[in-house]
Amino acid sequence: MHRHLALLAYLLCAFITYVTAEHSFENTAIVRTVELAGSLVHVRTTFVVKALETGSMIYAFALGPDEAEKTSFFEVRLKNEQTPIELQHFGFNAQSNTYLYAAILPNALKKNDNVTLELETVQTHATYPWPAAIGQNDEMTLKYETGLFVLSPYPTSVQRTKIRSSSPRIKSYTEPSNVEAFTLDAPVTKSGATITYGPFSNIPTSALASFTEDTQQRITIHFNHDLPVMEITKMKRAAEISHWGSNLNIQDDIWLHNAGPQLKGHFSRLEHQQQTYNNRPAGHVLRAFSVMLPTGVRDVYYTDIVGNVSTSHLRASPSVPKGTKGKQSSYLEIRPRYPLMGGWNYSFTVGWDSPLSDWAAYDKRDGRYVVAVPILTQFPDTVIDEAEIKIILPEGATDLEIYPPYSPISVKKSMHSTYLDTKGRPAVSFFFKDLTDRHAGFIYVAYKITFFEHLRKPMTIAAVIFGLFVLSSAARRMDMRIRSKNY
Ligand SMILES: *[C@@H]1O[C@H](CO)[C@@H](O)[C@H](O)[C@H]1NC(C)=O
Ligand SMILES: *[C@@H]1O[C@H](CO)[C@@H](O)[C@H](O)[C@H]1NC(C)=O
Ligand SMILES: *[C@@H]1O[C@H](CO)[C@@H](O)[C@H](O)[C@H]1NC(C)=O
Repeated sequence: MHRHLALLAYLLCAFITYVTAEHSFENTAIVRTVELAGSLVHVRTTFVVKALETGSMIYAFALGPDEAEKTSFFEVRLKNEQTPIELQHFGFNAQSNTYLYAAILPNALKKNDNVTLELETVQTHATYPWPAAIGQNDEMTLKYETGLFVLSPYPTSVQRTKIRSSSPRIKSYTEPSNVEAFTLDAPVTKSGATITYGPFSNIPTSALASFTEDTQQRITIHFNHDLPVMEITKMKRAAEISHWGSNLNIQDDIWLHNAGPQLKGHFSRLEHQQQTYNNRPAGHVLRAFSVMLPTGVRDVYYTDIVGNVSTSHLRASPSVPKGTKGKQSSYLEIRPRYPLMGGWNYSFTVGWDSPLSDWAAYDKRDGRYVVAVPILTQFPDTVIDEAEIKIILPEGATDLEIYPPYSPISVKKSMHSTYLDTKGRPAVSFFFKDLTDRHAGFIYVAYKITFFEHLRKPMTIAAVIFGLFVLSSAARRMDMRIRSKNY
């Protein structure tokens, strides 16, 4: 803890001076790989870094403002390590015209030591349909833009950027100009579905307003994409923990949007049937997709405003013990009631029950339950613009502690009442924005619940049943009286 505070203080000082001070690192090599897709673009950048001073341990990453705005997941690891490196987000720095992120290396480096850092980011809403409207039978093409150079507060010996398209059919890509200072070869090459920019050599410190203005340039890739661009504009998850019944119930209300090009003209069911018949479905039309549900789910339901959607299929897998590796998941195929054209929306509800023992553990030492609540169900290549995850605890749960894996935008506590509750259940809601596949994880909730509270629900039910019994026996007596009259 103390080490942490001291480090933080040091960090801030280091940062205030960093732009002017002589830097403590140099990048031996940078390789950025961009995986293009519809809603989510994954970017992996490898930095081979050399320390210029003994004791260097805070390495800064820089993203241009447009890049930072699109980036919703940011993680750094040492090469071949599992645990991410601790990061500090410094926000916008006017002097460098970039957003700065500092990675605190686990060990200080000696002069001339080198280390390989892997930066992984996920960008959302980074591609857009171009043209913005197409006919039902047309192919969809998307555009993606980024900066030519990876920006860094340190000089770089050599860097390159590989952009991998989802299809080798690339309509166009930017040819950089005025880069003779960095390469004498062709600045861009295409091979199959990959466009490579660079290698570029001897790039000075680039996280500087002057570099952004004079040297950095935009590059655009225009590519074919054969899968629908899926966006969940809103997701509301309710996770209800019930010890009585030993159940975790998850219900997701989902507002799905096809973010591909708008449909030009009217939708033709005939054209759609012909495509299906000829087995040449247009990539931009959203027909069906599969989601992975946990093992051991039961009573899976998928409904929309009309009712049960019976065209869906579930392949369920049985429960396996907690912590088992390589377990098989259950798969649910979600087929909207109508094919979703670009710009169209579809809202629906998916829910399931699962044995609580698959998610909960009891900590004997402090008498608490700890439950791992999954944050989201992964939809293929889909961004969740706004998410609300409401965790409904058992009635009478106290000493509540919550551990989200990353910071929510906000958290709200409330009480939730359902049928047969006497006091209401404590609930906590978490709000997030721009969630991606890399945000799948668990919110851990810990709480205590007394033995009496465990019994509250059965007792409420017992009281109700007893009441019914009294009523029905009274009715029976009455009934007998009526009958005896008839005799
Ligand atoms: C660091 O870089 C130098 C020169 O580039 C190389 O000779 C050396 O093997 C590298 N060390 C490590 C640990 O990678
Ligand atoms: C809803 O549809 C599923 C098929 O997806 C079916 O198995 C289930 O019985 C249906 N439920 C109701 C209540 O109709
Ligand atoms: C789809 O939903 C978005 C907001 O979620 C809305 O702006 C848009 O108008 C809707 N599209 C249609 C075709 O209803």
